[in-house]
Amino acid sequence: MANTNLGAAKAARNDEFYTQYHDIEREVNAYLEYNPDVFRGKTILLPCDDPEWSNFTKYFAQNFDRFGLKRLISTSYAPESKKYQFGYEPTLFETLDPRYDEDKTKTNGKIFILDKDRTGDGKIDVNDLEWEYLEGDGDFRSEEVKRLRDEADFIITNPPFSLFREFLAWMVGAGKSFLVISNMNAITYKEVFPLIMSNRMWLGYGFNAGNAYFGIAKECVRDFAGGVYDESTGLVKFRNCCWFSNIEHGRRHQPLPLMTMADNVKFSRHKEIQGHDYLRYDNYDAIEVPFTDAIPSDFEGVMGVPISFLDKYCPEQFEILGMCENMDLYGLKTKVYTSDQCRKAYFDKFGKKGTYDLNASGVIVQDNRYEKVYQRILIRKK
Ligand SMILES: C[S@@+](CC[C@H](N)C(=O)[O-])C[C@H]1O[C@@H](n2cnc3c(N)ncnc32)[C@H](O)[C@@H]1O
Repeated sequence: MANTNLGAAKAARNDEFYTQYHDIEREVNAYLEYNPDVFRGKTILLPCDDPEWSNFTKYFAQNFDRFGLKRLISTSYAPESKKYQFGYEPTLFETLDPRYDEDKTKTNGKIFILDKDRTGDGKIDVNDLEWEYLEGDGDFRSEEVKRLRDEADFIITNPPFSLFREFLAWMVGAGKSFLVISNMNAITYKEVFPLIMSNRMWLGYGFNAGNAYFGIAKECVRDFAGGVYDESTGLVKFRNCCWFSNIEHGRRHQPLPLMTMADNVKFSRHKEIQGHDYLRYDNYDAIEVPFTDAIPSDFEGVMGVPISFLDKYCPEQFEILGMCENMDLYGLKTKVYTSDQCRKAYFDKFGKKGTYDLNASGVIVQDNRYEKVYQRILIRKK
């Protein structure tokens, strides 16, 4: 395996990076702006966390009274169960506590609960958190954590990216409200896209242009081929990160301001659009729209738009019909290419033998040559 691939494989397994306080605050504010009482009287579970120093735990504990929470539960995963091991050291908080157990600290998860004013200072906050070891390692799939999930109204966390599909099924299957971080690529997963299509899940408020910065232990840095580490801040930058949620926020109901098709052709800032007709796919009954801001406001048919459209998707303005992909999961393909056609298309494009996998995406024909376009979502104006 080439070095870069090895790095990427390790990065895919390495789930040890931690969300910053202000990213959580900025995101949660979007839901509070829409409904200030969204968490009132509710129980929040923060699984896959490290409650002693997790910013999720800190943020919700600090805002317990303001949000009117009923209960906050946070659980961690045992150091020895983590896929990526990097010399675990328990904190002073734990070792100085009479409940400290030298073995359990490595093999068991922990649970932190906040539901009453234990210090008697008249408020419920981070100082009132109670903790103990879980019976097991804190795996979100364990019966113990499942019981906590069932008790909760909201599941909020940055879960292990490597188990995202499973984690999503675990939350959605239990019918919970949720707010979680993931990689944007997850949108195309067949377990994820149908949820977005049917408005059972959407993109949250989001990171700035999808760029997210996470805390990371220094020992892990060398295995982060997927992110860029900045030594001065101690943060690793991931591109293409997003929040997924089924909690309402205002931005998703703001329609995109768009121009008509004629105005796009006249005035678009994109050279691919200005002065050109919109292209039609050869294998879908739809037009190709390579930029979200070039979606024509007056086109009544189906349009293929970039995945990043979802960040601007307003369900009152558009409906999502499917995605260009291999299996025709959404029943929208009008043509399936043969292997011979795929080989010929490759030869016509590159002048040598190979296979151009035309069935995996939308295809346009230019100068008698087949051209695949980037991954597209198929939408229609409402
Ligand atoms: C991306 S980190 C985020 C940690 C924390 N939620 C935060 O945002 O700061 C995901 C965490 O999930 C833990 N994890 C991995 N597999 C897990 C599992 N099966 N059950 C519970 N936690 C798991 C990892 O060890 C890691 O600490």
